[in-house]
Amino acid sequence: MQKSIKTAEIIVSALPYIQKFRDKIFVIKYGGAAQIDENLKNDFARDVVLLSLVGIKVVIVHGGGKKINSILDKLEIKSEFVDGLRVTDEDAMEVVEMVLSGLINKEITALLNKHGAKAIGISGKDASMLKAKKLDDGKYGFVGDITDVKEDVITKLLSDNFIPVIAPIATDDNANSYNINADLCASAVASKLKAEKIMFLTDTKGILDSDKNLISKLSENSINELKSSGVISGGMIPKVDAALECVKSGVKNAHIIDGRLPHSILLELFTDEGIGTMIR
Ligand SMILES: Nc1ncnc2c1ncn2[C@@H]1O[C@H](COP(=O)(O)OP(=O)(O)OP(=O)(O)O)[C@@H](O)[C@H]1O
Ligand SMILES: [Mg+2]
Repeated sequence: MQKSIKTAEIIVSALPYIQKFRDKIFVIKYGGAAQIDENLKNDFARDVVLLSLVGIKVVIVHGGGKKINSILDKLEIKSEFVDGLRVTDEDAMEVVEMVLSGLINKEITALLNKHGAKAIGISGKDASMLKAKKLDDGKYGFVGDITDVKEDVITKLLSDNFIPVIAPIATDDNANSYNINADLCASAVASKLKAEKIMFLTDTKGILDSDKNLISKLSENSINELKSSGVISGGMIPKVDAALECVKSGVKNAHIIDGRLPHSILLELFTDEGIGTMIR
């Protein structure tokens, strides 16, 4: 009996957060690095379904770096990272789109639906939702720079209680495909939707300092210092850029959290301490 009362108390402790977050839009960037084992993937899906059922409007944007690497390796297509971005030639672009839009997008969508959600998987090509041009005049090949987010598809889905699951592929007026870094994609979507929160699930505790200790809060100045000293590197560069960008454009909070931790989303949202790094 004591155990059951404890469980009831834990559930009730989420009440103030549920009241605060009801009807608010949360964008969750589900990093490829956090999509590791089946248990974690199922935990993630159940957490998202729970948020949706308590009235939070959840939008998922996913990455897929690890899976893309493994398929590119199998096909012996080379791709290198510069400034944390995957330089994407025409062959790599085909694989990126196949893996993100075809494989991972549908896997996440199906998993959410298995746990009782009404999830719909789309990419930026659907209804031309994400328009892009080549970033830095093609320095990174088909890596795209988002020029427009047509949010009406997303808001329509949300108002009918669907969970949009977005693959970070964009298009242009000539129906080309662009590889968008998923962090920057999530940030552009969150900014356009004026989301309450954005959470980046990845494979570290958050942003770590030079001694590998977690930094729980970060401002723009400290981010710039950590970037120029090389402490923030690789895939963390577009992530902090994305987090800063959307906080500047009005998203209230950006959090980088550990997707390897079961129920990391709930720990961040429904506890006073939260987890990971908050950027403001
Ligand atoms: N200061 C730092 N603190 C924490 N991680 C860092 C830091 N600097 C660089 N990183 C690297 O950033 C990585 C996370 O970015 P990465 O792009 O690999 O994952 P992701 O964005 O979650 O996945 P995907 O790109 O597939 O969506 C970490 O695994 C870590 O190696
Ligand atoms: Mg990344």
